[in-house]
Amino acid sequence: MRPVIWWKNGRVVMIDQRQLPGREVYIECKNHERVARAIETLAIRGAPAIGVAAAYGVALGVSRLKGGADLDGAFAKIHKRLWRTRPTARNLFWALERMKAVYEKSWGLGLAALKKRLLAEAAAIDREDVMINRKLGRNGSALIKSGSTVLTHCNAGALATAGYGTALGVVRAAVERGKKVRVVADETRPVLQGARLTVWELARDRIPVTLITDNMAAYLMARGEIDLVIVGADRIARNGDTANKIGTYGVAVLAKEHEIPFYVAAPLSTVDLGLKDGSGIPIEERSGDEVRRIRGKLITLPKVDVRNPAFDVTPAKYITAIITERGIARPPLARSLGAWIRT
Ligand code: MRU
Repeated sequence: MRPVIWWKNGRVVMIDQRQLPGREVYIECKNHERVARAIETLAIRGAPAIGVAAAYGVALGVSRLKGGADLDGAFAKIHKRLWRTRPTARNLFWALERMKAVYEKSWGLGLAALKKRLLAEAAAIDREDVMINRKLGRNGSALIKSGSTVLTHCNAGALATAGYGTALGVVRAAVERGKKVRVVADETRPVLQGARLTVWELARDRIPVTLITDNMAAYLMARGEIDLVIVGADRIARNGDTANKIGTYGVAVLAKEHEIPFYVAAPLSTVDLGLKDGSGIPIEERSGDEVRRIRGKLITLPKVDVRNPAFDVTPAKYITAIITERGIARPPLARSLGAWIRT
């Protein structure tokens, strides 16, 4: 698979995930506003990928500034625009904080040096993400026995990261180690990241995948057809409460009822130590049209009242373990996660 996002001749190029699996189209962003719009409209999505896109967005915005501009003012504007794109993914803010730190450390070096340093930082965030996912995958692969069926929700794969994926990275790592693994993918209403993206990328890697609608998971679990669940995360509070795509919480409750292990796979940059539990995680509410329509086609009355929270929070008590690049965090999650982030 080509990378999800990259820098090319002063532009940020990314695969347009809204068009998948029908068409493989790439968007070239020539300013940070285009990058911000791509994040808001889900052309690029998934917490780590959003972070990488925002970092490149800052580098792109600054690359277009001319000498003599009010640099502090211009940087703050670019940074704020990207900061406001999506509220839930911790990785967005983590990446933007890294970019701001580089800006502050480059004070007085001149515009040309600043541009170089910001681009180098964005490229580092991009590169590191793939390495982290490989490590996380390796750690998590030990949890999958050959012959297992893994249920996943949404898309926490290569498309949702700089490459390799988190939840799907664990599956990939198990397959690379010779294990036989089958994935059951929830379609993930409203915008169908499971049906469109998870199925697409697993099929490309020839990893067996079966698509179900979201309301079929309980049936398959009750029949003993699911061995474990692995999902990604948008933000993890200090106690392990985890925000992920809407519907994840329901899957976790079902998994507990059926005594099926429920794993979250995420880089430590997803953990928000500033939040003591999940109640403080900001949950994005998106346009009602995503619920009223499927792929643009109206499926209900055009003006019916709808709710569209994009994420829900799975309480830590439903989570068997969190798979990270440092290792597998088991309950009590606060202790293991906190120690890894501080050291
Ligand atoms: O709205 P999305 O598609 O950005 O939501 C994505 C998810 O919920 C993913 O599971 C999460 O970001 C982890 S991606 C490795």
